[in-house]
Amino acid sequence: MTASGTFGYGEEFADFVDLSRLGGIVVKGTTGERRQGNDYPRMAETPSGMLNAVGLQNVGVTTFAKEVYPRIKDIDTNIIVNVSGSSIEEYCEVASQIDRLDNIPAIELNISCPNVKKGGMGFGTNPDMASQVVRAVRDVYHKTLIVKLTPNVTNVAEIAKAVEGAGADSVSLINTMLGMAVDVERQRPYLSTITGGLSGPCVKPVAVRMVWQVAHAVQIPVIGLGGITTAADALEFLMVGAKAIEVGTANFIDPSVTTKIIDGLEEYCQRHGVTDINDIIGII
Ligand SMILES: Cc1cc2nc3c(=O)[nH]c(=O)nc-3n(C[C@H](O)[C@H](O)[C@H](O)COP(=O)(O)O)c2cc1C
Repeated sequence: MTASGTFGYGEEFADFVDLSRLGGIVVKGTTGERRQGNDYPRMAETPSGMLNAVGLQNVGVTTFAKEVYPRIKDIDTNIIVNVSGSSIEEYCEVASQIDRLDNIPAIELNISCPNVKKGGMGFGTNPDMASQVVRAVRDVYHKTLIVKLTPNVTNVAEIAKAVEGAGADSVSLINTMLGMAVDVERQRPYLSTITGGLSGPCVKPVAVRMVWQVAHAVQIPVIGLGGITTAADALEFLMVGAKAIEVGTANFIDPSVTTKIIDGLEEYCQRHGVTDINDIIGII
């Protein structure tokens, strides 16, 4: 699948990728109202990665349902909406509007955004808050509920178990890691928000470790992401227990990277005599 915030609504990539080959497209974080996002500059390149502070810029759920959904609903893959918010009420409002859209089989509940002042990561760093928001959304959302976890915690397995207990069907991890970079010539932070979310290959070892920990802690399927750029990266996540993977920042470097990863997985399986990818999931 493609990771939220890195693949638009999918349609933007149709010239580069046969979208029907993807397992799914997770669209940009969608909130109750339209959001402008944070002031510029809100991106900075780092060694082997990037910092972003986009801040959930999006059209809002009503415009999404009226204008965007009709354009993307017939793309031949699973369109998953990343649901974001500042309060439990907002998460529930967005989730229940998305529930009514027939061609959206799942939502990914983003309780892990580091770039908003209210809510976001606040829900994902505390097991009680995490289970409260998941339980409330579970009551109003009747299809597949994926909960996206933040790496900015000491014990990620504890949060994963809390959301599993509250009714999540799956967890995805990791969202971005809280980071900061300083422009020493101008003597100020690179980002308008001072701190931002780190992503790309530099976060991969942290993400692999966390997926491994969570896969051993919960019964529900785990979706792994964080720095995946090649088929070998994807295989690391599968081998530590991820049942599926998402590709994010790599789409900015090569817009057709997802299909190259799919080809690479097929090539690996042939080379290693693997007839069913499930045979290597969780072998570590
Ligand atoms: C520019 C940008 C925007 C993002 N927007 C969202 C978002 O709206 N919702 C969300 O849950 N994650 C968002 N993310 C996080 C990614 O989906 C992903 O969890 C993270 O970048 C780690 O994966 P990667 O290293 O493959 O990019 C964003 C990441 C980037 C780089």
